[in-house]
Amino acid sequence: MVVASRGEHRAHPAPAGEATMKELTWDQTLSVEVPEIDEDHRRLVDLYNILSHAVAEGESAEYIAAVTDELIACTVWHFRHEERLMLKHGYDGLAEHKAEHEELMASAKDLQQKLQDQGKTVSSDEVQFLERWLMGHIYGADMPMGAYLSKAM
Ligand SMILES: [Fe+2]
Ligand SMILES: [Fe+2]
Repeated sequence: MVVASRGEHRAHPAPAGEATMKELTWDQTLSVEVPEIDEDHRRLVDLYNILSHAVAEGESAEYIAAVTDELIACTVWHFRHEERLMLKHGYDGLAEHKAEHEELMASAKDLQQKLQDQGKTVSSDEVQFLERWLMGHIYGADMPMGAYLSKAM
């Protein structure tokens, strides 16, 4: 997209040649063996990709904030979904898992707050932070939870 000026609704263009965009792909290696959780994770991966494209293409700060809000809302809903399933099926790692969700939401809300500050937008570093956040949590915490739930449900 053409950036006409450094007006308040124009994001900074990605520096030429910088590999800012990382596309995530949901495949079976990301499956936690619980279809309804996999479905949520697919949606989160899609939203992450939309955000990553928006940042790489220098979309407006307003648009990037809208995508971030959607990603955060979807993540909140998804965390509640997992917590309900863990509670229902007596997963003994619930408290620890829930604490990790709270930590992740605190970081996400910091990012959201930053976006609400005038004209700021997310950088590719922050997008990479979100990617590590999403993937790290799925591999580290959701996999063992899924292994338990897939047997208990
Ligand atoms: Fe989780
Ligand atoms: Fe999850």
